[in-house]
Amino acid sequence: MTTATDRKPFFYDVTLRDGNQALRNPWNLQEKELVFKQLLKLGVQGIEVGFSGASEMDFAACEHLAKLAPDNVVISGLARCVERDIQMVWDAIHYAPQPRIHTFLATSPFNMENVLRLAPAQVKERAVKAVGFCKQVMGGRGTVQFSAEHFGDCRENMDFVIEVFQAVVNAGADVINLPNTVERYRPMLFVQLVEQVVRALPKHVTIAVHTHNDLGMATATTVESYFAGATQMETALNGLGERAGNTNMYEVACALANCEVDVPLNMGEIYETALRVSEWARVPIYEKAPLVGSDVVAHRSGIHQDGAAKTKGMKKGAYRAIDSSLIGRKEGDRLGFTSQSGKTAVFEIVRGLGLPISIEEAAAIQPLLKKLSEQGGRGELSDAEILKVYDQEILNVRGPLSFQGLRMEPNEKEFYFDVVYNGKTQALTGKGTGPIDACMHALEQIGLYFHLIEYTQMALDVEHLDFAAYALSEIKLQRKDAAGAQPKGAIALGRGKDMDTIKANVRALFNAVNQLLR
Ligand code: KIV
Ligand code: ZN
Repeated sequence: MTTATDRKPFFYDVTLRDGNQALRNPWNLQEKELVFKQLLKLGVQGIEVGFSGASEMDFAACEHLAKLAPDNVVISGLARCVERDIQMVWDAIHYAPQPRIHTFLATSPFNMENVLRLAPAQVKERAVKAVGFCKQVMGGRGTVQFSAEHFGDCRENMDFVIEVFQAVVNAGADVINLPNTVERYRPMLFVQLVEQVVRALPKHVTIAVHTHNDLGMATATTVESYFAGATQMETALNGLGERAGNTNMYEVACALANCEVDVPLNMGEIYETALRVSEWARVPIYEKAPLVGSDVVAHRSGIHQDGAAKTKGMKKGAYRAIDSSLIGRKEGDRLGFTSQSGKTAVFEIVRGLGLPISIEEAAAIQPLLKKLSEQGGRGELSDAEILKVYDQEILNVRGPLSFQGLRMEPNEKEFYFDVVYNGKTQALTGKGTGPIDACMHALEQIGLYFHLIEYTQMALDVEHLDFAAYALSEIKLQRKDAAGAQPKGAIALGRGKDMDTIKANVRALFNAVNQLLR
């Protein structure tokens, strides 16, 4: 593993600027305030609140949020290297205790030529002038950040880019941001550029990385850039941002935490934040989104289910990157049953629903469930479907004796049982201290003698499975002979479920009897 570093990462969130500018429906002031407060809960170190020059609504939001800012959080606004933009950022954010103007200009050969249509010397001059103007309007307060837009596309002109950085630092820039404005190449090529900048600039300058996710590697690029010397991680909630988005904060935070880096965030707020932001942005979370997707805690293959079950409750799980509780997600590993699943899934699912099952019983019904899952392409079985098979195959072990009905005397001393025994319907009568005792005496009329070892009963309340308010009885029985000699042979554990507690007991008894008769 890469060695941990003592340098604390600085989480600078760009959701309210880069994320917002890419929304179909950009946030208004009230919506931005919700996101802003969530960022404070997460404990980020810096928040880019917007692009005040973009619209009157965004200017008002930046001003409002700057007024709400606490002492320990940097509040920045984005400005092109244009005096009007810079002045507007300052007018909006100067209320913050730690204000920052963030100005940017493209430095890649392609963009300078085709978009800015400026010669490199003109670009450098404009950047230095803009940083100087930032310093002037700020009057000694706050910090200035300069971004070389399209830095990831500057492999051929790095000497020039470093020259620009040195010049803007001399003009007063405190933070140099290296954006991978469009992700086109390998993370390690970008990281090599970061290393060049880290070597070239004085130590007091903070190096930031701001990566976009066009090829799906933004997290890798940001994380590796940290180990290459970048301190400021520019990330977004839910990875919101232009095109495929900005670097996802949660992924960076968890990757760094797994590498033993001290992550200065309240990571337990992450899951809740992801759900809220998805709602506020009206951008659903893909079910396979790392860490926060609804399906990423599910295991469906027998091998993975076995590993997950064997490492349940351990700090490191066989098949999970993090313990979900790290990000405040209550749900741990979830097992789903499909045709790919094994007995462990049956065992864990049935147990998870509060019902008794042994691993042998789970193994016995797994092939039936597998077949059911394959039938008509049914796929993953619901809990109710699994329980139906459990009911049929485990609770109602089929055998020569089946329970049909029960009536009792008002004094509850005499019971009448309707049974089918070896295909013949019979009415039996039994007297006893209770229904089980009476039933055992009734069975003696047809030559079946048993010894009751143990009896327990519990209430089941699995409402969502239309299992509401059921009684579940368990009975342990052993055979004995007609003369009442010592019980001997196998011991059966019978289970019975019914809304009527007396019937649940009788069912459990019949269940155990059939196991012994088999
Ligand atoms: O992606 C980018 O280059 C930006 C800059 C303005 C920092 O968002
Ligand atoms: Zn960006």
